Amino acid sequence: MNRKEFLKRLGMLTVGASLIGVDVNAMTTEGSAEAVAPTAKKDGNKTHPDLDYPVRPLKATTERVVTAIIIGAGSRGTTYGKYATQFPDAMNIVGVADIDNFRKKRTAKAHNIPKENCFSDWSEVFAREKFADAVIIATPDNLHFEPCMKALSMGYDVLLEKPAAQTEKECKAILAQAKKYNRIVAICHVLRYAPYFIAMRETIHSGIIGDLVSIQHMEPIQYAHMAHSYVRGKWRDSKQTTPIILAKSCHDLDIIRWMVDKPCLQISAEGTLMHFRPENAPEGAPARCTDGCPHEATCPYSAIDIYVRRKRHLGVFDLPDRKDENAIMEKIKTTMFGRCVYKCDNDQPDHYVTTMLFEGGVTASFTMDAFTPWGGRRTRVMGTKGYIEGDGTKFTVYDFRTNNKRLWYKSVKEMADYKHAGHGGGDHALARDFVEAVAAQDPTKLSSTIDASIESHIIGFKAEKSRKSLKKVKIG
Ligand SMILES: NC(=O)c1ccc[n+]([C@@H]2O[C@H](COP(=O)([O-])OP(=O)(O)OC[C@H]3O[C@@H](n4cnc5c(N)ncnc54)[C@H](O)[C@@H]3O)[C@@H](O)[C@H]2O)c1
Repeated sequence: MNRKEFLKRLGMLTVGASLIGVDVNAMTTEGSAEAVAPTAKKDGNKTHPDLDYPVRPLKATTERVVTAIIIGAGSRGTTYGKYATQFPDAMNIVGVADIDNFRKKRTAKAHNIPKENCFSDWSEVFAREKFADAVIIATPDNLHFEPCMKALSMGYDVLLEKPAAQTEKECKAILAQAKKYNRIVAICHVLRYAPYFIAMRETIHSGIIGDLVSIQHMEPIQYAHMAHSYVRGKWRDSKQTTPIILAKSCHDLDIIRWMVDKPCLQISAEGTLMHFRPENAPEGAPARCTDGCPHEATCPYSAIDIYVRRKRHLGVFDLPDRKDENAIMEKIKTTMFGRCVYKCDNDQPDHYVTTMLFEGGVTASFTMDAFTPWGGRRTRVMGTKGYIEGDGTKFTVYDFRTNNKRLWYKSVKEMADYKHAGHGGGDHALARDFVEAVAAQDPTKLSSTIDASIESHIIGFKAEKSRKSLKKVKIG
């Protein structure tokens, strides 16, 4: 992207306001990227220095190598494994468990794991005496609680994928177990560790925008991602996994709680599954897109279009060659991912709105929407003296009194070791902090305590209670 294109994009963000001086180190999180050269920042006699906060390198500062076992070597387990590959002096993967033989072997090979430390079901890990500092639990949502409880009782520290568990009761039990055995549990609320969100929170807490009054936060899921994960895919059934407000958006409730930095007192939620229902299937649509659907050429949710033509979300297929269209076609003919989106066993809402009241009167609204062209996050923060508007990769801070506008924009791709880290760098920044916390046996090295992570899960469960009961729900 050249400077002209960048300014055009930024102009869209600032909605007609003239941006004075752009000092940009360039940045990306999910998807958008590219560098723009820093420029002068002059508006008459006023200067507007851009916002900058130091970003910690991803390499953990530890006295020793932390050893860990990956339980669930799918997409997320592999992500944390890559941290160990990038920083072998910080983390060493010494064991793996996955019921999928291919994934187990792939992980064993990537980390030189001896055969005796390779397991199928998660429970086999705990049939052995403790043989590592930590376990990384990255199994499906319904297989978090039991392995986590067992791991803690055996003295393992735990990197636990979100959502921590499927019910509020189980979440509280994990919190109690962590305290009982005095263990470290880091819940993978990775956005807390992303430089973009860290900078936004720092800005709020610096007082630049005065007192925080309210937040509007949006999670656009993106129409094809919705179809892939929450209509056809692994998180389509809220009972087998967790309600979408936790499965997809527990990050966002956590981020809002973290920004406000005060307890949430009550929540109200609305949301329905409006579109992906059998009655909305176009006439003559067969069970699978590959069964000669007359609407294939025009349906935005066509599996042939999403997987074969656009080659999106192919990670689930474990293909040796992601360009092999015949192999992809075979997968969508035979797996859940080829089903017509109107004929799936799905129950997750495709739009969800919540409003929250926090101690001290701060309010927040959160919207999750399936029907958007892009993913990521959008956030607006209202303060008594200023305003922040962010698009998930950069944000602008407006000062009411001076009319100054300041930009935060840092390229994760340009930040040396961050370039391979997903979620705006948050995936590996979390791994770094976890390694440091375990090595030092000091949970304060984590951005989120287990108490705070469980609290934000509870906000999610209360949201779902509100949505189902059509009533405002008190928290705490
Ligand atoms: N933090 C985030 O941003 C984020 C993003 C996506 C997913 N997640 C969460 O991470 C978890 C894993 O998601 P994923 O996308 O990696 O899923 P995945 O399906 O790619 O990986 C899960 C793995 O667990 C394995 N598994 C299933 N049953 C098992 C058992 N009994 N014993 C051992 N292994 C077993 C599967 O074979 C699979 O390889 C989920 O809870 C998901 O909600 C978190």
